[in-house]
Amino acid sequence: LNFNLSRERRYILEVLFNGLRRLEYRGYDSAGISIDSSSESDAVVSPALVFRKEGNIESLVKSVNQEVAATDLNLDESFSVHAGIAHTRWATHGEPAPRNSHPQTSDSRNEFLVVHNGVITNYEVLKETLVRHGFTFESDTDTEVIPKLAKYVFDNANEEGDKSVTFSQVVLEVMRHLEGAYALIFKSTHYPNELIACKRGSPLLLGVKELIEEPSRASFNDTKFLLSNGQPKELFLSSDASALVEHTKKVLVIEDGEVVHIQDGGASIFKYENAKEKGCEKLKRPASVQRALSVLEMEVEQINKGKYEHYMQKEIHEQPESLTTTMRGRLIRGGSCKAKSVLLGGLKDHLRTIRRSRRIVFIGCGTSYNAALAARPILEELSGIPVTMEIASDLVDRQGPIYREDTTVFVSQSGETADTLQALEYALENGALCVGITNTVGSAIARHTHCGIHLNAGCEIGVASTKAYTSQIVVMAMLALAIGDDTISSQGRREAIIDGLFDLPNKVKEVLKLDEEMKDLAKLLIAEQSLLVFGRGYNYATALEGALKVKEVSLMHSEGILAGEMKHGPLALVDETLPIVVIATRDTCFSKQQSVIQQLHARKGRLIVMCSKGDAASVSVGGSCRVVEVPVVEDCLQPVINIVPLQLLAYHLTVLRGYNVDQPRNLAKSVTTQ
Ligand code: G6P
Repeated sequence: LNFNLSRERRYILEVLFNGLRRLEYRGYDSAGISIDSSSESDAVVSPALVFRKEGNIESLVKSVNQEVAATDLNLDESFSVHAGIAHTRWATHGEPAPRNSHPQTSDSRNEFLVVHNGVITNYEVLKETLVRHGFTFESDTDTEVIPKLAKYVFDNANEEGDKSVTFSQVVLEVMRHLEGAYALIFKSTHYPNELIACKRGSPLLLGVKELIEEPSRASFNDTKFLLSNGQPKELFLSSDASALVEHTKKVLVIEDGEVVHIQDGGASIFKYENAKEKGCEKLKRPASVQRALSVLEMEVEQINKGKYEHYMQKEIHEQPESLTTTMRGRLIRGGSCKAKSVLLGGLKDHLRTIRRSRRIVFIGCGTSYNAALAARPILEELSGIPVTMEIASDLVDRQGPIYREDTTVFVSQSGETADTLQALEYALENGALCVGITNTVGSAIARHTHCGIHLNAGCEIGVASTKAYTSQIVVMAMLALAIGDDTISSQGRREAIIDGLFDLPNKVKEVLKLDEEMKDLAKLLIAEQSLLVFGRGYNYATALEGALKVKEVSLMHSEGILAGEMKHGPLALVDETLPIVVIATRDTCFSKQQSVIQQLHARKGRLIVMCSKGDAASVSVGGSCRVVEVPVVEDCLQPVINIVPLQLLAYHLTVLRGYNVDQPRNLAKSVTTQ
């Protein structure tokens, strides 16, 4: 920041900008910020300053510098209490543009400002009503109705002579009219130095810095608690922990329907109850709720790039460690009189129910769905229970049958994906047992499922999921082992898999040595339009996930194809120009894949074959194909190894093609809207 600023202001702006940088992976097409322009000593509160810009956070910082430099604003004054808000956006309603960026405002004086994560589904009706009451709209967003509604509620209360209407009463009244999903923060000229946050459906955390009491015993019943030591406090509200962890690890996960009121450096929380349902006309502020603080397990180093240039690169290379932490404490080595086994604490009270279920249904989106697909064969084998796969949005669209006798498994790195959450709601309504597999402690999926397993893979920031994918497969392999634990006939197989799991991080280290080789391959493919990936059996998922990685980051068209379907369509695409990756590592499908290679070769296909170490000669059709040799592991764990070269290929292709590997066009890490 290159303009004159008081120490406090500089600090606040830096906290907000750094927070946005941490959250940028959730959306990066436009950003905005609002800070107070007046200090407490001013007799009249001036409108808050608002800066908004399309593009990434750095474009916003640049624009703030330019805009402030061009004015005679005095930002060089001190104050003890200040409330600032900021937002980074992933466009749903309205193109990325300053007028569609947040904070959205009620009017030119910024009487009410709002930042929003989610989608307001009834915004059109609200907009029509507000227009009838004389409001004019300048954005295409669903969010703009919220600050305007707040102003409408505030003005009405004042006209009716209720000069004492509080900020929280205004927000509660607004919430009463909103439908859809949201996490919101409100700021208002009428309530200087106050913020209100509330949520329904979208995630929200409150971080508390400088608490004097032990976090485990601290409770959060009223404002007095935070003011008790008379020291200034820093309170942070954020959609996720990565923006908080450098300031504090003490957080409160805000629940649906809760409202946080920050005032005079303290905070109170109370529960929204729908007064409409209760037949009351006006909402009274309900009693505060008692909540315990939790401590984040995340470390700041986890969210830095360290020695790497990109998060995706770092996350690919840290897979030996992330897999180790995923398995830590969960694999039992066994001994002379004790069999090798797995221990999944989060499932122990539900394993019997799972074993008795009629069906196991895996539900997820994107990479999480692919991970479940990779684990499906071993689950079927060890559990003997039919396993079906559902893409979350499709299950909801079809309202597919889910029964009380089903075990539904919700797989989600973030634990917040809106489609997966909606499918979870649906499965809960249908009475199924709901198991969560997520990487985010305290996430909505972790909280709303009956039981589950955390990935413990560490924070994943690259939009293209890499280390979460391999940890998900390992967790689901452990789930298969735990379900099958009471079957004597498969004990040998289970022990072989457990040995394989112990050795897996070393094998991943070995496969990562292909980095340079994959970079060379990327150089060769840099100008291609398209890439096909053929796999089957355990590695059908590898084909889908490899192709997904390539298309999402390098923006090259890529398709994962079930090799068994080759003759039923895809073969028509094969010629001497189109590059094709064939996964042909050793398992029961190996000979079938050899024949696929022959058939593709006969049609002059440009083949890149991934095979097990030592198999180059048997797959390269007389040396005519390019071969990538990978280390051999237990067949059901092979997808963990096989995806790594494809992750590396996608990474290098992207960097060589000059695209932003951590922020792929139009995508976001955690899709919390439908
Ligand atoms: C988005 C991300 C993907 C991710 C998918 C599911 O599309 O870009 O990387 O696989 O959501 O996310 P989840 O957090 O539920 O695993």
